[in-house]
Amino acid sequence: MRRCRFPSSVSLFVFIVLSGLTLTFILSRQRYGALLRLDFPDDLIKAPRLMTTASSVSRTTRVAWRMFSNGDWGGASISYVDLERHEDGRKPTNEEQYQTSDDWPQFSKTYFPGAVPRSPFKPKVAIKWGFNTAAFLQRPHVKGHPNKMITWVVPPRNVPPLPEPVRLRVCPEMPCRLTTNATFQSQSAALLWNGQIMRSDPVVRSHPDQVFVFHNNEPQKPDWNHRPSFRKPNWRSNFNWTWTYRNDSDLKAFYGYIVKRRVPLKKNYTEIVARKSKQAVWMCSHCHTHGKREQLVAHLKKHMSVDVYGGCGPFKCPRNKDDSCFEMFNERYKFLFAFENAFCTDYISEKFFRYYESDMIVVARGSNEYERHIPPGTFINTNDFNSTRELAKHLNFLDAHPEEYIKILKKKDEYISLFEDWPIRNHAGQTTYMQYHFEAMGYCEICRRLWELDSYRKTIPDLLEWFDPGNCYLPPDVI
Ligand SMILES: *[C@@H]1O[C@H](CO)[C@@H](O)[C@H](O)[C@H]1NC(C)=O
Ligand SMILES: *[C@@H]1O[C@H](CO)[C@@H](O)[C@H](O)[C@H]1NC(C)=O
Ligand SMILES: *[C@@H]1O[C@H](CO)[C@@H](O)[C@H](O)[C@H]1NC(C)=O
Ligand SMILES: *[C@@H]1O[C@H](CO)[C@@H](O)[C@H](O)[C@H]1NC(C)=O
Ligand SMILES: *[C@@H]1O[C@H](CO)[C@@H](O)[C@H](O)[C@H]1NC(C)=O
Repeated sequence: MRRCRFPSSVSLFVFIVLSGLTLTFILSRQRYGALLRLDFPDDLIKAPRLMTTASSVSRTTRVAWRMFSNGDWGGASISYVDLERHEDGRKPTNEEQYQTSDDWPQFSKTYFPGAVPRSPFKPKVAIKWGFNTAAFLQRPHVKGHPNKMITWVVPPRNVPPLPEPVRLRVCPEMPCRLTTNATFQSQSAALLWNGQIMRSDPVVRSHPDQVFVFHNNEPQKPDWNHRPSFRKPNWRSNFNWTWTYRNDSDLKAFYGYIVKRRVPLKKNYTEIVARKSKQAVWMCSHCHTHGKREQLVAHLKKHMSVDVYGGCGPFKCPRNKDDSCFEMFNERYKFLFAFENAFCTDYISEKFFRYYESDMIVVARGSNEYERHIPPGTFINTNDFNSTRELAKHLNFLDAHPEEYIKILKKKDEYISLFEDWPIRNHAGQTTYMQYHFEAMGYCEICRRLWELDSYRKTIPDLLEWFDPGNCYLPPDVI
């Protein structure tokens, strides 16, 4: 959910189009090793409407994936490569480093003529998807057969137009192609609808094996003023697979993923904490939400200091200074509030994953499932407190006891937040954040399943019955 985040949200989708960047999945030398790297393949670079607005890209990026499936990867494993150092202390190879720089100049020359600084593009990790693609491609039912087509009938807003079918970003050698061009609909093996914005009635399957996928990565809100059509009766038993933020989906659409670091971070925590002179920061521009987080903050402010930045508070951080604002927050504040604007099963937005790696302790409020996604003891969950007063008391305690505060930071730094996100500046100097909504891992998994369809045949008997009950709920008492 991007409503209440640190940078501007207005032009997010414009910039998502910038994701002509592609994560390319290259086979490394080991049999099962495959390295995911950032890449800017020609087919996406040439997408026509990219980059009329962006003129420079700032600082750093973290590469990760958003869409993946927890368990069932047909034997695949997911891990990462630390681009600064391997677990055995080895420096990453040039090939691994490659993604950090080489592609950028080419990309920037095309889209930011004359205006772009040297590669700002410095992901910290590369994702490894341990799937034996080479062996897969040799299987008789795969080898020599034409690619399977995956078509977005109603893409989420952040998917760039793909008039010509493209290889899949994470797994380009997998025998599938992805497009948004309706011309390919009838020949497609899978058709995808984004639940939030779909308005159309079901189409007739062009062949019996055509798979219909329901995609939804944002919460349902009770008062949706635009009623998406999947609520219509004729849609209810039409989908085969679900692809949502819920863990019981066929394919997962999480915003991020916390994994154990192989090489623990070494920081001078005493120094970090000594610099911090302020308690909590909250950045918010969407002031009235179902989650009633604004009320919670108002109550907290009676007991502790909370600086509210953005449209909902007195503190302003110029939008063109997002990076330096973040640095400033990171340096000065001890706690960062990552309050979701909706409470939904398994829903944890980028607000959490982006700041988890900072030198602030994230105070989360949202779904009831944090502990299943995030290692306990590495963040603070408002749910663990009986009242705002108690929560404030605990935060005040940590504030007054640096050694306790440091314990949490240290524990947190045993983990890494795999979440993709990088800031980009436009002509006006405003910063926005680009995320890989161009759902890398999920497409690979869809592709794999399409080739093994007999193992994945199913129909969601009643989409609403699956999706609605208990999915989103009102917040617990905030006082
Ligand atoms: C869709 O693909 C067809 C066939 O490649 C192409 O002729 C057409 O221009 C494409 N449509 C769009 C909207 O790009
Ligand atoms: C950490 O920083 C403090 C203050 O700058 C310094 O006194 C201390 O020696 C540093 N500790 C380590 C282990 O570097
Ligand atoms: C998701 O579900 C799987 C299978 O039931 C389970 O193993 C896994 O721990 C769950 N993950 C989360 C984050 O709840
Ligand atoms: C909250 O209330 C319950 C029941 O009254 C109590 O058992 C629990 O210890 C309280 N939690 C905290 C953090 O005080
Ligand atoms: C998809 O669901 C439809 C029912 O809506 C069913 O007829 C079809 O067999 C299913 N396809 C697959 C591949 O499971």
